[in-house]
Amino acid sequence: MGRTPKSSDRLFASLDSERIRINDEETRLLVEAIQENCGMTLANDSGLFLERRLGARLEALGLSSYLDYYQYLRYDAAGTREMEELIERITTHETYFFREQYQLDAFSEEILPDLARRWNRQHRIAVWSAGCSTGEEVYTIAMLLLESGLFKGWNMRVAGSDISRKVLATARAATYGESSFRTTTPELKRKYFVENGGRWTVREDVRSMCSFGQLNLVSTERFRVLGPCDVIFCRNVLMYLSQAARHRVVEAFYDRLTPGGYLLLGHSESLLNVTTRFDLAHLEKDLVYRKPLDAAKPSSR
Ligand SMILES: C[S@@+](CC[C@H](N)C(=O)[O-])C[C@H]1O[C@@H](n2cnc3c(N)ncnc32)[C@H](O)[C@@H]1O
Repeated sequence: MGRTPKSSDRLFASLDSERIRINDEETRLLVEAIQENCGMTLANDSGLFLERRLGARLEALGLSSYLDYYQYLRYDAAGTREMEELIERITTHETYFFREQYQLDAFSEEILPDLARRWNRQHRIAVWSAGCSTGEEVYTIAMLLLESGLFKGWNMRVAGSDISRKVLATARAATYGESSFRTTTPELKRKYFVENGGRWTVREDVRSMCSFGQLNLVSTERFRVLGPCDVIFCRNVLMYLSQAARHRVVEAFYDRLTPGGYLLLGHSESLLNVTTRFDLAHLEKDLVYRKPLDAAKPSSR
């Protein structure tokens, strides 16, 4: 027997029926434009998803079809800004402090001691979190550098980048609510954060090690602004990109890494069918990708 529709079902049904519909051709055009802009791959049957995420934009802009929206993106002077707004609405920014602990253990216990040995004359270490979202990953890395006790007096630099200006504003503000701390121990929380009315702000000395910048990963020609990196974290980002975009981004990561430098991906991501230029390093705590020690150095440190 069918159930009686609840009032919330009726509300959604009426919202759905009022929505401007996207047809297959418009879906294809938008999917291609998104892929071209940020490398993100959406299936050609993503029409309903796009309608739900973008319907409010059409309304706000007073547009009556997705073809008009596509043309606005392509040809209007405000199209570039609108593309940022679109990408904002279709990306996921899920992140939290001390995410994927086993990998962070490998970073702290195996990768950092290796880099401390290798750079013990230069006394500098540079880490990049590519696709850092609201910044928890960046501050986690800085805290782990401090916790290791290996780099006292060194020049420690942690850079975070993301395509979204909104998440970067949150990252720079460095103040977080409870959901960012789902895997943070009470000791680390007490040590590295200052509480203020139920929210926690990252300690000033940690913040001063970190910088943030807007960067679309498919704009690989801009990677040089980061200088050479000893470790690149790019976790839970490549999974959203097309095969071609992954290849392009990972090749450019390779060029940014110092010889023997590390690339850390999310637990469900790999370089299979992307590139064979990295070595797979079997660390005790995790498998990670590493640029061969005898590879060429990146330009300018
Ligand atoms: C799921 S979050 C991952 C955050 C963090 N790395 C982590 O693992 O906790 C993915 C982030 O990648 C960013 N992103 C997606 N495509 C991007 C692109 N083409 N260039 C730069 N950032 C991108 C999104 O804006 C989002 O903030």
